[in-house]
Amino acid sequence: MSIKAVVFDAYGTLYDIQSVAAITEQAFPGYGEIITQIWRIKQLEYTWLRSLMGRYDDFSVITRDSLAYALRVLGLKGDEATFERIMEKYLHLDLYPDAIAALAAMRDRKLAILSNGSTAMLNALVANSGLDRVLDATISIDSRRIFKPAPEAYGLIETRLGVAPTEVLFISSNPWDACGAKAFGLNVAWIERVTPEAMAAACVDNDLVAPLTMFKAIRTQMDELGLEPDYRIRALAQLPQLIADHESQK
Ligand code: LAC
Repeated sequence: MSIKAVVFDAYGTLYDIQSVAAITEQAFPGYGEIITQIWRIKQLEYTWLRSLMGRYDDFSVITRDSLAYALRVLGLKGDEATFERIMEKYLHLDLYPDAIAALAAMRDRKLAILSNGSTAMLNALVANSGLDRVLDATISIDSRRIFKPAPEAYGLIETRLGVAPTEVLFISSNPWDACGAKAFGLNVAWIERVTPEAMAAACVDNDLVAPLTMFKAIRTQMDELGLEPDYRIRALAQLPQLIADHESQK
């Protein structure tokens, strides 16, 4: 089956969510990393809890609430301007270095984002990074009022792009998202940005596990959910060849 659309998760896949650490460290010297990790862990947790509770609010609210949680539990107090400066970075996250070239190499297919991000957040992020010039669609789950990995979220790809799940290659670095997309019936490539070997090396012989290491242990290793991605890759740059190989097989 040919791949008619390549659809990307946004945060952590095309955009480096760790890039907020520069701003959090500037705002709260010595706490930048621990804020960044607690913030992302709670941000994701709140999407799952709100979906299960049926109390949807958009990702900008969840991102605010999870940042407020991280600062509160660390006993950090900042003024409104500091809070807004940190939040603003979410609209200017760093693209991964190989993102632009990888997308350009696949421009003969439909290219899109499917993200938990709110429509406003995603449109700003995509415009600020210039991806609005290469993407055919930026799809927020807002209209379904439920977050990935709920199947309703992935159903938006066919609704918006008019391609069947078997004609889609979905890319995510978030293991839970890769599993959700696989459960829905998409072809899935998971970007394994932290290898098991690197994970082990960061933990053994260290009597102190840094917050970033703790985050990597919780959120970057393939989960035990009875699902496997079709492909495991280490970088976006591998995608054009992966698609060629996929199409030569099926
Ligand atoms: C996204 C985040 C949650 O959906 O990974 O872009």
